[in-house]
Order: sequence, then C-alpha cells, then structure tokens
Amino acid sequence: MAACEFAPELLKWYAEQGRELPWRVKGPHPDPYAVWISEIMLQQTPVVTVVPYFSRFMERFPDIATLASASVDDVLGYWQGLGYYRRAHHLHTCAQVLRDEHGGCFPKPLRPEELRKLPGIGPYSSASIAALAFGMRAAAVDGNVARILSRLYCVDVPVSTVKDQMMSWAQDLLPVSDKDMADYTSAIMDMGAMICRPKSPGCSLCPWQRGCGAYREGECERYPVTERREKKKRWGYVFWLEDEKGRVLVRRRVQGSLLSGLREFPWVEVGSGDKAACGADPAVPDPGGDWPVCWQSAEHRVRHTFTHFHLTLHIVRGRVDSEVFAPWLERGDLAESGFVAVADFGQYPFSRLMGKVIEAMTQEASKQCPNIILAKEDNISP
Ligand code: ADE
Repeated sequence: MAACEFAPELLKWYAEQGRELPWRVKGPHPDPYAVWISEIMLQQTPVVTVVPYFSRFMERFPDIATLASASVDDVLGYWQGLGYYRRAHHLHTCAQVLRDEHGGCFPKPLRPEELRKLPGIGPYSSASIAALAFGMRAAAVDGNVARILSRLYCVDVPVSTVKDQMMSWAQDLLPVSDKDMADYTSAIMDMGAMICRPKSPGCSLCPWQRGCGAYREGECERYPVTERREKKKRWGYVFWLEDEKGRVLVRRRVQGSLLSGLREFPWVEVGSGDKAACGADPAVPDPGGDWPVCWQSAEHRVRHTFTHFHLTLHIVRGRVDSEVFAPWLERGDLAESGFVAVADFGQYPFSRLMGKVIEAMTQEASKQCPNIILAKEDNISP
C-alpha cells in the first residue's frame, strides 16, 4: 500500500465504524474547549473511564470563563478518582492564562507550537487539539498510534527509542486534505482502541491490513517491543487518628507536591519490598515525630499500583483528644489539617489510594476480618 492510500481507507472505515463520543461533534466546528478538556482527561485514562467524568465536568464547567473562576478544590472534586491530579491543576491554570492573556479563547492563529506554551499541553496534546479542534495538519502520536505504527513497520526496538522515525511515519500517513484532519485523528485513535488492540488485534477487520508488515509476518502481537521493567514494591503506614467524637484527622497535601490540594490521612513510606521482609515487626514511626498518640498495630492494609511501583500501606489507628492535639494542628506540617467526620468525607477530594483506606476503615465486614483492599492499576503517583 502506498502512503497516500492509508488515510482514505481509514476514513472510509471510520465513517462506518467510528465511535460516537460526547466530545466529538459531527460537523465542521467542534468546540475547542470540549476537545481540550477531553484530550487532557484522555492523556492517561481510557475512554470508558473518561466518558462520565467528562460529562460531569462539562456540566459544572461549561466554558473557559467558568473553569478559570472556579476554586482549585472545586476542580479537584470533579477530578477525584481520575488520577494524575497534576492534569487538573494544569487545566485550571491554563483556563486562567486563556482568560487573562488570550481573551478567553485558544490563541489564534493557532499552531501546535503556540498551544504547547500553555500549562499542561505537551507535544501529543498540542498536536491532537490542533488537529481535532482546528483541522490543523499535525500528527498526534500516543501509545495507541505508536502501536499501530510499530506493527505497520515491524519496529523491533522499543518505540520510545525511535520517536523521530515514528513521527515521520505518522506525518507521511496524514490525509491530503486538511478538512479530513479531525476525522482522521479520531479515526486512528479508534482503530488503535478497537482493532489494533495490544492483545488479540482484530486484523480481519483492519482497513490497513494490506499495508501491515506485522500482519504479513503473522506476528502482530510481537509488536510493539517493550522494555520489561519490573515494578518495585514499596510499603509504609497510613495513620487513622480519631478524636473523642470519632472524627478523623485529614490533611491537605502541600502545594507543589504531585497530588497537591487532595486530602489524605497522614502516611509515611518505610521501605522497599514487603513489611514481612523486614523480619521482626518494625516499630511504627510517628508521622509527625512527636505526636501524643499511642498507635495500635495495623489490622488492615491497602494496596495500590502506581505507574512505576506497587505500594502497600498498613493502617494504624490512634485516638487523641482534639484539645490535646490542637497545638500540633498549628504546625506547618499539618497546615490546613483537621478532624473531619466520616459523614463529611464526601465534601473533600481524596485520591483513590485514600479512598481505599476509607473503605477499609468504614466497612463493617472489613473491620471483622482483616482485609486487603486491592486496587486496579492506577496511573498516578501517591
Ligand atoms: N484518546 C485520546 N484522544 C482521544 C479521542 N479524542 N477519542 C478517543 N480516544 C482518544
């Protein structure tokens, strides 16, 4: 298949099989705001997870002005559970930059280089937004597109080591006419998700079957070649500290940290590997160094898988009188912390990891039988 034959075949397939997704507006003028929000959400998160988040987010923040004037806590609340919380901070800041420096809309004349200057918009998102929202000629190469290219061209090294080559192939395959850019970009994303899947690709339905090197070799699942890196295990303690009314100490993560703004129970990482590998039960460290609390040994643990490691946190409980503890709440490490009734947890944004701690500590069943709350893969750091 010549390079110029790929786009027409794909566009034909997309017209019949493409997905209807809430951020895709049929017709010539998609809403750049909706495209931007969806592209940021989709950066690290699958479509099925994003759909309900996108709808709720758009209802609450329908345009740049509303998002720019919202509080960061409000935005984080609508992001809760989606992971990679830095994206929510960037969206919020970016809306303010668009409002203050670009008259409340995306810069025009728009080029991917200009988009890339905005907070949270990197090479991939700038290309996808430029193509999807403005029909610009830009190749958006994410993991799905890289997988397709690695199969078409039988790339037998990790794709991350041949990025320039991938980009050049992606550009060669773009449609001749700019009016097809948005549909083509959606189409290649759909083909990656629906046909050229990581496992069991649906080659018999693939519009690019004829031009695919891996299909010819009968070796589609051999590509993309990956660097195998074992995820390391890490472990620590998370502290469930109740006051005399049964309220629990909740702190706000400090500004500048990865999940800044989210709420959490104090926790510390103790070591790598498993707690059991430490031999005799290691002493529970005090989260603040000198808190007037006697901790009870851990009975529950939660596990979470992050991008590069697995984390197990053993939950320890403590009780303290809120008046006794008041001076500690004045200190810098507990700035914006306080005792919160379990019934009020819903008002605060917690990460998935902390959600699992709440689940373990509030479910009667899990109190009776020590439990491990297991997480699905998550793409955030703690
Ligand atoms: N992945 C990234 N962007 C996407 C989009 N606009 N549609 C479907 N999947 C995507």
